[in-house]
Amino acid sequence: MTLLKGKKVDLELAEKNDLPTIKQWANDVEFVGEFEPFDQISLDELEKQHDGRGEGQWYFVEKKDGTKVGYIGHFKSKDCVGIGYMLVKAERGKGYGGEAVQMMVDYLFLHKNIVRVQAETHPDNGASQRVLEKAGFKLEGHIRKSFFSRGVYRDTAMYSILREEWKEPKILPIGHIRK
Ligand SMILES: CC(C)(COP(=O)(O)OP(=O)(O)OC[C@H]1O[C@@H](n2cnc3c(N)ncnc32)[C@H](O)[C@@H]1OP(=O)(O)O)[C@@H](O)C(=O)NCCC(=O)NCCS
Repeated sequence: MTLLKGKKVDLELAEKNDLPTIKQWANDVEFVGEFEPFDQISLDELEKQHDGRGEGQWYFVEKKDGTKVGYIGHFKSKDCVGIGYMLVKAERGKGYGGEAVQMMVDYLFLHKNIVRVQAETHPDNGASQRVLEKAGFKLEGHIRKSFFSRGVYRDTAMYSILREEWKEPKILPIGHIRK
């Protein structure tokens, strides 16, 4: 039973038996989208990451009828937390990604002793930048030629939100998660 309940979508922690769904999506060029690196990954490799990950977690983005429409995750990056997210193509542009990002920010600041959440995105990825800005993230600058994808080195746009900029949850009610 999920405890991260939003208005349009819920976030459900991915378990080991969910890895085949992640594999199917991660190896699908339409799902990955035009801006993200596209690396084929085996179930074996996903299981190794799952078993040894420790400092990050992936959640399915689920519609209210339980349909899984994508995933969002958080992972440790130095002394702060990074997030990443993707939705299936047919479900983009309906507000699900924006709500998932806002919920994840609420969750991280409500339940983790951190002062900063960050996200890196392709500078031309307008939808990703928009959902970050709507959730209160600010553009810090561009990290030049920082990842290799589809035959070229690309810049990434670095976004972040600090705890003092977040101030209070926008979607998750305080204390709704069982201790
Ligand atoms: C990025 C992504 C998760 C966003 O989720 P989503 O459900 O489509 O986003 P939402 O519907 O909540 O909001 C999208 C917003 O971006 C806007 N938008 C869409 N395309 C845009 C573009 N090319 N330029 C600028 N804004 C754009 C929409 O108008 C909307 O803003 P609004 O609410 O003010 O109208 C989703 O598009 C996706 O999975 N993309 C492919 C994978 C990916 O790029 N992941 C991010 C990696 S950093």
